[in-house]
Amino acid sequence: MTGPIVFSTPALERDVSSRVEKLVHKIHPAHPVHLFRRPVLTQKAHDFLSQFSGTVMYAVKCNPDEGVIITLAEAGITTFDAASIDEVRLVRRLVPDARIHFMHTVKSREAIREAYFDHGVRVFVTDTIDELHKIVHETQLANDLEIFVRLALPKNKEATVDFSAKFGATPKGAAFLLHEARLVCSKLGLMFHPGTQSTNVDVFARGIALAAEVIRRAGVKVDALDVGGGFPAPYPGQEVAPLSAFMDVIRQAVQDHHLEDLPFYCEPGRALTAEAGLLVVRVEQRKDKALYLNDGVYGGLVEAAKWQGAVRFPVHLVPKHPDFVVPSEKCEEFRFCGPTCDSLDMMKGPFMLPDYVAEGDWIVVGLSGAYTNACRSDFNGFGLSRTMLIDF
Ligand SMILES: Cc1ncc(COP(=O)(O)O)c(C=O)c1O
Repeated sequence: MTGPIVFSTPALERDVSSRVEKLVHKIHPAHPVHLFRRPVLTQKAHDFLSQFSGTVMYAVKCNPDEGVIITLAEAGITTFDAASIDEVRLVRRLVPDARIHFMHTVKSREAIREAYFDHGVRVFVTDTIDELHKIVHETQLANDLEIFVRLALPKNKEATVDFSAKFGATPKGAAFLLHEARLVCSKLGLMFHPGTQSTNVDVFARGIALAAEVIRRAGVKVDALDVGGGFPAPYPGQEVAPLSAFMDVIRQAVQDHHLEDLPFYCEPGRALTAEAGLLVVRVEQRKDKALYLNDGVYGGLVEAAKWQGAVRFPVHLVPKHPDFVVPSEKCEEFRFCGPTCDSLDMMKGPFMLPDYVAEGDWIVVGLSGAYTNACRSDFNGFGLSRTMLIDF
């Protein structure tokens, strides 16, 4: 069956694509390679820092590559959202002066102790009274705790993955927790996360409105509000407003609810890193319109499988031979199969590639700086990959 003739959404600007092609031909990678574009990371950090009128934290979980963390720190990001003790250790090692918020609502007792006593972490999040007790107990009734209460938002259908089903207290529960936490902490905050890849700008306005209502209901002084991550990256197939539109909505909601005096935080992951990532994979076999790659669902392409249909990843072909004469720019629909023996390891796509794609060619997957290297596993012995920071 021949797919419709359409042109690929470019994964790369023209000057970048020729430099990436040269690099790929030079290193000839037999395993997946994550390229992280330093200038793009720096630009994204500057965009957030200049447009958000509060503290921008980087959500490390999204891409814990050392070069990425250092680049963001050099660009001016000094506060980090860590989800685990390993992320706390990593940030402390790479950015010794960083301020670290331990933002997982369920932490082990050992992790809390180590974060507080060994790494100087003072900011912890909770969405239950049990976790609050755990934090207070394991820090030995410390008098310098900064506690954020996590509020669940109503289901966000426009997020690619809604988070409030798993984390966060109800408005009533959050008000109660604010009240209880106020008694044991030096600073008190409220936070929410609207879900990753939230394409609806108004979800932040609704979150701030609900947060204002919870703060009123709690009747205690609240010192900070954290509007989470969830800012979207521009994947083809979705309408994504620019970052400035999200910031305008946040600014307006803050004014509407008279919260201007409150210190604000946001904790983006994807929107800081996705556009900086290029994942180079190789075609090991072609079966009609199925391309068997050296990477897949258990490697750097987990989201390419999870988000079939609406969200697409832009792809760019690098033919095996540098002097290959491209017969035509026409693209067709392909699907991908990952390297493992598991048939869950398939990605329907469709991925738009030239029909001459063949074994030994490389495919550069764009917009792959978020939740790619972070999600790699060794399943079936296909864990080998490398990362490179590039300056273009
Ligand atoms: C608590 C928290 N903050 C921030 C993020 C980053 O979200 P995103 O990458 O959608 O910006 C996540 C993602 O899982 C999260 O759980």
